[in-house]
Amino acid sequence: MRGGDEILRIEGLCVYFYTYAGVVRAVEDLNLTIYRGETFALVGETGCGKSVTMRAVLRLVPPPGRIVKGRIIFDGVDLLKLPEKEMRKIRGSKISMVFQDPNTALDPLYTAGYQTTETILAHRKVSKKSAWQRALELFKVVEIPEPKRRLRAYPHELSGGMKQRVVTSIALSLNPKLLIADEPTTALDVTIQAQILELLRDLQRKYGVTLVMITHNMGVVADMADRVAVMYAGSVVEVADVYELFGNPLHPYTKGLLRAIPSLTSRNERLQSIPGTVPNMIRPPPGCKFHPRCEYAMDVCKRERPRMIDMGKGHLVACHLYS
Ligand SMILES: Nc1ncnc2c1ncn2[C@@H]1O[C@H](COP(=O)(O)OP(=O)(O)OP(=O)(O)O)[C@@H](O)[C@H]1O
Ligand SMILES: [Mg+2]
Repeated sequence: MRGGDEILRIEGLCVYFYTYAGVVRAVEDLNLTIYRGETFALVGETGCGKSVTMRAVLRLVPPPGRIVKGRIIFDGVDLLKLPEKEMRKIRGSKISMVFQDPNTALDPLYTAGYQTTETILAHRKVSKKSAWQRALELFKVVEIPEPKRRLRAYPHELSGGMKQRVVTSIALSLNPKLLIADEPTTALDVTIQAQILELLRDLQRKYGVTLVMITHNMGVVADMADRVAVMYAGSVVEVADVYELFGNPLHPYTKGLLRAIPSLTSRNERLQSIPGTVPNMIRPPPGCKFHPRCEYAMDVCKRERPRMIDMGKGHLVACHLYS
């Protein structure tokens, strides 16, 4: 594990959505540290706040969402204190994000090449010609076949996987230090998913960027990540090295998630799911938010929010069973 040199530290982050139905506590008191050069996975069930957390890092939480509290320290600077103008410089050039749905990430009115060069021209003082040259290089890096021709293609002329590659090339165009990939999966079929993930892994190795992957696929985590954070209902409940997490999961929720993976030896066994449903984020349960679904719940779990405990070797868990 590459401990020590941290690139991103999130402290006490709260992101709420102010809806007519009430205040949705999408992210609550979230803490996370990510080290330079690692591949970090953020996992958890749908709606637990993975995308909102990483959008907060870019300060791109959509309304009615708002970052209410917390610190987001990137390379020593608190991003939440920066003027918008400074933040705009960081977005794309230092930190970039590949969003979940490639169909909405691209503008249908412009060619793939134009959208890539625009990003370069907006941040770098280079000629149009060299920006197009760079775009062509990037298309090769992300393994777009016939890259020259694809530069001139409009999004509707590209397949889903190809669009995802274009989006990835845009995200890489300014050599970001931190690349956030929001599960490029839902919109894509399984083989293309695997190809894109393979590509990201290669890029991570080649360029040493720090990669944060958002996923709910534990197989992907096992394949790719160095470290993992498990989120539940807006908070991180466990963080560990990938081998440690799979070999010695501590939080009952993590154990449940791992049990839900069908094992190779028991293909006929039914896929287990964790009983109960994700809590209402407007009125989350008191104490530990997982307690209504937890088979080990004790009295204290209903009253007190568990704090993150360091179990050694960088294995952190927020659960009263260990305090
Ligand atoms: N526009 C919005 N308005 C109101 N609530 C929102 C909005 N966007 C997100 N939320 C709330 O934030 C929570 C977290 O959403 P988020 O998109 O981060 O989940 P996720 O973990 O990325 O899920 P998935 O795996 O499905 O992508 C959701 O459960 C929802 O309650
Ligand atoms: Mg998401």
